[in-house]
Amino acid sequence: MPTVLITGANRGFGFLLARLFLDDGWSVLACCRTPDTADDLKKLQAEADDRLQIHALDVTDFSQVDALAAELHGTPIDVLVNNAGVLGKTTMDEGAILHQSFGQSDFDEWDHVFAVNAKAPMKVAEAFVEHVAASERKMIVTLTSIVGSVEGNTFGGLYAYRASKSAANAVMKSMAVDLAKRDIIAFPIHPGYARTDMGGVNAEIDPMEGARGVYNVIASATPESAGRFWSYTGDELPW
Ligand SMILES: NC(=O)c1ccc[n+]([C@@H]2O[C@H](COP(=O)([O-])OP(=O)(O)OC[C@H]3O[C@@H](n4cnc5c(N)ncnc54)[C@H](OP(=O)(O)O)[C@@H]3O)[C@@H](O)[C@H]2O)c1
Repeated sequence: MPTVLITGANRGFGFLLARLFLDDGWSVLACCRTPDTADDLKKLQAEADDRLQIHALDVTDFSQVDALAAELHGTPIDVLVNNAGVLGKTTMDEGAILHQSFGQSDFDEWDHVFAVNAKAPMKVAEAFVEHVAASERKMIVTLTSIVGSVEGNTFGGLYAYRASKSAANAVMKSMAVDLAKRDIIAFPIHPGYARTDMGGVNAEIDPMEGARGVYNVIASATPESAGRFWSYTGDELPW
């Protein structure tokens, strides 16, 4: 039975991915900051025939990341999914949401957004690389975003989030090159602009459509998928 580890699995895409992997017979290591309040995950666990473990993990707490990697020593992880992410502050101006516009930068917020979106995927991959290398499928995937595409940036703004996701793309590209010699497949994926808590009610797609797409890209990935930027639709995106 293959195993997937998912960060931020208590809600949004992380939770839906946990459900999809479980439905397909996988064993799921579902990580979240506060297991005590992860009621949806606990319900899922009750239906999962011991195939779902819930682990406390704040991805910015590197000692907690190392401790979980040590606790899971000897457990092969076929797919590591860096899903946890934050948008950072958005502000309102006469009723319109201003997404991190020029002149409004909060650099403490930048640090937090980078810590979660760019540094944590690196740290989690480094901590769990031996678990992945010991598995059959050997895959490390990070949910980044189309807004991290430099070429695709046509409407500006969203500085901290955009830059953090571009950085995460760069991290995943290097990781793909460096880990290919260990037969590990690494890539970033855009899950779609979806109506999760982060995407909001006006986003384009149902979250399950995005999660299913991400699942399908992962399930059909080959060594040729490594180091490329994927959309949940299965199309390749420009960097
Ligand atoms: N929704 C979209 O339209 C969209 C588009 C492109 C990319 N994405 C990316 O997809 C991923 C999932 O997004 P989503 O829409 O599902 O967001 P969401 O509904 O806001 O959920 C975010 C998840 O990340 C977790 N998280 C935040 N900070 C964390 C930390 N320090 N340690 C561990 N977990 C942490 C949250 O946990 P708590 O419940 O504890 O806060 C929550 O489980 C993110 O990386 C996001 O950037 C989303």
